[in-house]
Amino acid sequence: MTIGIGLLGMGTVGAGVAGILTTPAGRHPLVAALQLRRVAVRDLTRPRAVPLPVEILTSDPNAVVDDPDIDIVVEVMGGLEPARSLILRAIAAGKSVVTANKAVIARYGEEIGAAAAARGVYVLIEAAVGGGIPIIEPLKQSLGGNRIQRVSGIINGTTNYILSRMAAEGADYAEVLAEAQKLGYAEADPAADVEGGDAADKIAILAGLAYGGPVPREAIPTEGIDRLDARDVSYAAQLGFVVKLLAVAQLVDAPAVPAKQPPSGLQLLDVRVHPTLLPRSHPLAGVNGVNNAILVEADPVGEVMFFGPGAGAGPTASAVVADILNIAGIRQATGGHPGGGVDPLLAAGSWRQCAL
Ligand code: NAP
Ligand code: HSE
Repeated sequence: MTIGIGLLGMGTVGAGVAGILTTPAGRHPLVAALQLRRVAVRDLTRPRAVPLPVEILTSDPNAVVDDPDIDIVVEVMGGLEPARSLILRAIAAGKSVVTANKAVIARYGEEIGAAAAARGVYVLIEAAVGGGIPIIEPLKQSLGGNRIQRVSGIINGTTNYILSRMAAEGADYAEVLAEAQKLGYAEADPAADVEGGDAADKIAILAGLAYGGPVPREAIPTEGIDRLDARDVSYAAQLGFVVKLLAVAQLVDAPAVPAKQPPSGLQLLDVRVHPTLLPRSHPLAGVNGVNNAILVEADPVGEVMFFGPGAGAGPTASAVVADILNIAGIRQATGGHPGGGVDPLLAAGSWRQCAL
C-alpha cells in the first residue's frame, strides 16, 4: 500500500523532506511506500533544491489539503496563518498532519490537538523542537514513568551558532546572523530567533508535554541575545563563563502565603528564556555551533541529556520523516484507519492524548 504525502512548503525543511522521500534506498523500508504527490509553494518559478515533476507543484495550498490522494499533510511553510487554518482543514478532511511549526503549536496546540482527537487522526510535532534531536517522543513516552523536575536547554540553533562564533573568534554578531540565515538555520523573520521568541515557543511545547499544559505562550518571560555584543561574551570568558541562551521550565514550590497558593490540583511552573552565564564545567556549556541540547531532570531517572543538530534542512527533515513513518506504520498496521486500532504505546503518548 502506498501512502500519499502532501507538502505545504518546500523551502529549507520541505526540500530536506522531499530529498529523503525521493531517495528511499538504504532507509527504513516504509520510506519506499511514501509517495510525494503534491507540493505547495508561493513562487512556482523559483528553482528548487530537489527537482520534482512540475505537475505536482501548486501555488494553492488548499489543493494539497483537499487532494483525496493525499493521506498525510506535512506543514513546513511556517508562520501562523494560513498554516493554522490549513492544519485544521487537513484534520477536518480526515488527514493526519506532521508539522515543524512551533509558532503554531505553541499557540494553537490545544485547539489542534482537540480537533485531531475528535477526528481520530494524528498531529505529530517532533521537528518543532530541537531540529534532529528526538525530544518530543521521549518526553511523551520513554520518560512517562518519571516526575519531571526541570527541562532546560539550548533550543535555538541560530543563536547558539552566533554565540559560539562570537566566543571562539570574536565574530561580529550581524555577520554571523547573516551566515546563519544563509545556512537555513534562521526563521523567515530572524527576530524570532535573536529576540528569544522561537525558544519561548519551544519551551512552551516542552513544558506542556512535561507537565500536562497548556502553558500560556504569551506569559513566558523572554529575553533574547539581540542586546549582547562581543564584549559581553569576552568578559564572560575572562571570568570563566560562557554565555548561552537558555530556556527553562521547572516546578517550583508553592509559596508559603496562602493567598498565593495555586488552585488545588495545579502545579506552579517557572518557565523562561534568557541569556545565561554558565560555568565552563556545566553540561550545556560545551554545546556549540548549531547544536542544541536539552537536559531533563526527573525522578527516578536522574539527569538525561539530549544532544544534536538543532536546525537546518537535513536534521529537521530527519525528524519530520520520523513522524511520517510513525503515522504510516499505524496506517499499514490498521489497513488505513489510523483511529481504528492504534499501537497502544503510540496512542497512550500521542499528541491527541496530551493536554497542552
Ligand atoms: P522557508 O525556507 O522559508 O520555507 C517556507 C516554504 O513555504 C517555502 O517553500 C515557501 O514558498 C512556502 N510558503 C510559505 N507561505 C506559503 C503560502 N502561503 N502558500 C504556499 N507556500 C508557502 O522555511 P523553513 O526554514 O523551511 O521552515 C519551515 C517551518 O519549519 C517553519 O515553521 C520553521 O519554524 C520550521 N523549522 C525550521 C527549521 C530550520 O532549520 N529551517 C527547523 C525546525 C523547524 P516559496 O519557496 O515559493 O517561497
Ligand atoms: N530557527 C530555528 C533555530 C530553527 O535556529 O533553532 C529550528 O527550530
